[in-house]
Amino acid sequence: MTAVSGSRLDYSAIEQDHSVILALVADIDALIRKSADRDEILVRFQELVRLSVEHFLREESLMEAYGYPRLAHHRQEHREVIDWLGHIEDAFVGGSTLSAPTNELTLEFFGAWVSRHLALLDNPMTAYLRKHHVDEQPEPAAKVDDLAQHLA
Ligand SMILES: [Fe+2]
Ligand SMILES: [Fe+2]
Repeated sequence: MTAVSGSRLDYSAIEQDHSVILALVADIDALIRKSADRDEILVRFQELVRLSVEHFLREESLMEAYGYPRLAHHRQEHREVIDWLGHIEDAFVGGSTLSAPTNELTLEFFGAWVSRHLALLDNPMTAYLRKHHVDEQPEPAAKVDDLAQHLA
């Protein structure tokens, strides 16, 4: 199978996304627990939503490109949690705070959701991609110099 443009098999990027997202959840949780400034928490929370959307799209483009059979179900889980995060973000922007114990539970829920999703959906997905495209090499990244010349 030929490599699909823009969908390099870059598992390390997926794994790195997971670490970044979980670290951000821990950061936000710590900010809430120390009653940090509301705007500071909001900025981090919006970053979490943005990174999650980008990450989900990265996974979905890989699954689409390589014919993953459980794409629809996987995408559905992504959509549900993004809708849920979006509702919380809207409420937060609309004046709600993330300082109450219920909001610590919100973060706890999201952290638990990520762990479960990783174990039940992401791990089988990466196993499938590895198994079916084990000899696939990522396209070489353009050299920065080449890019600079191209833009000049
Ligand atoms: Fe993921
Ligand atoms: Fe996923």
